[in-house]
Amino acid sequence: MKIDLKGYQAVVGGATRGLGLATAQQLAACGASVTLLARNKEKLEAAKNTLDVSDGQQHNYLEVDFANFESFRAATDKFFAGKKVDILVNNTNGPAAGSVIQKTTEDYQQAFDLLFKTYHHLSHLLLDGMKERGFGRILNVSSVTVKEPLANLILSNTMRTAVVSWAKSLSKEAAPFGITVNTVLTGSFETERIESLIRSQSQETGEDFEGLLNQKKQAIPAKRFGQPEEYGYLMAFLASPFAGYINGASIPIDGGALNCL
Ligand SMILES: NC(=O)c1ccc[n+]([C@@H]2O[C@H](COP(=O)([O-])OP(=O)(O)OC[C@H]3O[C@@H](n4cnc5c(N)ncnc54)[C@H](OP(=O)(O)O)[C@@H]3O)[C@@H](O)[C@H]2O)c1
Repeated sequence: MKIDLKGYQAVVGGATRGLGLATAQQLAACGASVTLLARNKEKLEAAKNTLDVSDGQQHNYLEVDFANFESFRAATDKFFAGKKVDILVNNTNGPAAGSVIQKTTEDYQQAFDLLFKTYHHLSHLLLDGMKERGFGRILNVSSVTVKEPLANLILSNTMRTAVVSWAKSLSKEAAPFGITVNTVLTGSFETERIESLIRSQSQETGEDFEGLLNQKKQAIPAKRFGQPEEYGYLMAFLASPFAGYINGASIPIDGGALNCL
């Protein structure tokens, strides 16, 4: 099996580093032209320069702020008007850590804007074009917190579950048009996000950072964090025509960390 995405147009959120960048790199390596979304022009330019262009791929980027929904909506509405997109990877920065009662109603609203409204808006914007072509892939970055809520990550626990339910519903509506909608339940991957979460935990509890890091790795059956490129491989497969019969699924990629079925 050789994944060939030549001629496909992809959009990847949060794509200057971590899981988003790794996904964009694998999509590009399979031949897709990718539009990267993030905040900073210089970082976007640098990320774009890491993408494969050997098959005539034409990459692009758009500066957006996921934390400001109205500006995100305006920027994406303008940029994507009339553009053809086959593959959408919904991915943003993660929400702040914290427990149920530490968070205010406003915090929940902000997390809803960040993790739910951005996903819905882009999908809604690009769906008609996918329907017209009879092909589309919507991939949502989510978390294993959907199956086993993690301590001190209530905003993620709450909003990611909403995304799974939304995605399942959308998958039923989109399937007759050759469009699939799948959600990836992300375990622990070696990115800046996980490092900053563990660093905050270490500062709060006084536990040694390296000790905590090692403890978290040892709790995973694979005894390590995932590498971002391993994430990209799954996303490239799900984005491809080979994955046409996988729809409405929530797929864990976690080194065996989840305890539930
Ligand atoms: N890594 C893990 O183990 C793990 C586990 C479960 C779930 N997740 C989730 O997966 C997603 C990606 O994780 P990651 O580890 O790849 O994160 P990351 O390394 O922190 O990368 C975040 C990306 O989002 C961009 N970004 C940050 N704030 C932004 C904003 N306000 N507007 C636009 N772009 C913004 C960053 O680029 P700029 O700073 O250049 O804008 C960067 O490209 C997150 O939602 C995270 O919670 C990750």
